[in-house]
Formats: sequence, structure tokens, C-alpha cells
Amino acid sequence: MPERPYVIDEMISAKRIAARIEALSQEIHDEFSDTDKLVVVGLLRGSFVFIADLVRELDLPVEVDFLEASSYGNSTESSREVRILKDLRGEIEGRDVLVVEDIVDTGHTLTHVLHLLNSRHPKRLKTIALLDKPSRRETNMRADWTGFEIPDEFVVGYGIDFAQRNRNLPFIGKVRFTDEA
Ligand code: IMP
Repeated sequence: MPERPYVIDEMISAKRIAARIEALSQEIHDEFSDTDKLVVVGLLRGSFVFIADLVRELDLPVEVDFLEASSYGNSTESSREVRILKDLRGEIEGRDVLVVEDIVDTGHTLTHVLHLLNSRHPKRLKTIALLDKPSRRETNMRADWTGFEIPDEFVVGYGIDFAQRNRNLPFIGKVRFTDEA
């Protein structure tokens, strides 16, 4: 299929993202201030930039692990079927765990991942999402902390891709197709 032409309009600047992460990390610190070790679990691949910035703001003993769930492939439509493509390296039983997601859209990914991780009996399991599109929700999932609520737009940048492109943009931008009337 030929690639449709598009441009990217900035929606959330790098500066706003950094300021929000600073505020969120304070709240996370307050929640986990008594932890002996916080396992921060990044959902690949979209959260890799967010988790990198977030852990550097956290003045806590942290361990970083990653989990990959199936995503959209090269389409902008969400799939309801969630599969685990790469599991955690470490054990989380009896541990404090923070799951880091890029976007909660329909909520199926996070619902599935939390169900799986809860079955391993962590001590505390919390979630943070950089972005939330509440109008797209098909589950009652809500992250414990959210960076920004956004409208139903397809976004890229700051780790988030469109067909594997644009992850390296320092800001969040919205995709606007230029062949639309
Ligand atoms: P959900 O299971 O529908 O909540 O989808 C979550 C996943 O879909 C996110 O982790 C993203 O990888 C992907 N996703 C949702 N919205 C967007 C978007 O606007 N741009 C790029 N990926 C998205």
C-alpha cells in the first residue's frame, strides 16, 4: 500500500512534557517513598523515551524492566487482541511495580498487562500513562497517573510511532493527512 502523505502538527512541546514529568515524579515519589525497590516496567516500544526521562526524575531505588505487548502493526486502528511478545526478565512477586505506558487508547493493552502482572502477586502495582484518550475507551481502565488527556487524534513523537517512524521527535505531534479534502 503506498504511504499516504502527512504532516505533523505540534500538540505538546518538549518543555511541557518535561514540566509534567517533574510534577508526576513527585507524586510517584510520595506514593513509593517507603519502597526498598521499585520495579519500573516500560511497555515497549512506545514508552522508551518516557521511561528514560521518568526514572531520571525519580529519587528512589529503581530497577528497570520491559514488557512488549502486540500493538497496531502499521495501521492506525486498534486491535482488541493483545499478545505478550516479550515478557519481563525479573520476578515481581512481593515487589512494588510501576507500569509505564505511552498512551491509553481503548484500554485493552493496559487491562491485559495488569491482569497478567497481578497474577504474579506484586506487593503494589500502579500505572502511569503519558497520554490518555478517554473518548476512545472500550474498557474501564484508567492509569493511576496521566500526563495529558488528549482528543481522539493519532499522535507521534517522544517515543510514539506511526508505522515505526517519528519516535525520535522530541515533542508530541498530531498526524494530519494532506490528501484529505
Ligand atoms: P489500547 O490497547 O487501545 O489502549 O492501545 C494502546 C497502544 O496503542 C499504545 O500503547 C500505543 O502503542 C498505541 N496507540 C494508541 N493510540 C496511538 C496513537 O495515537 N499513536 C500511536 N500509537 C497509538
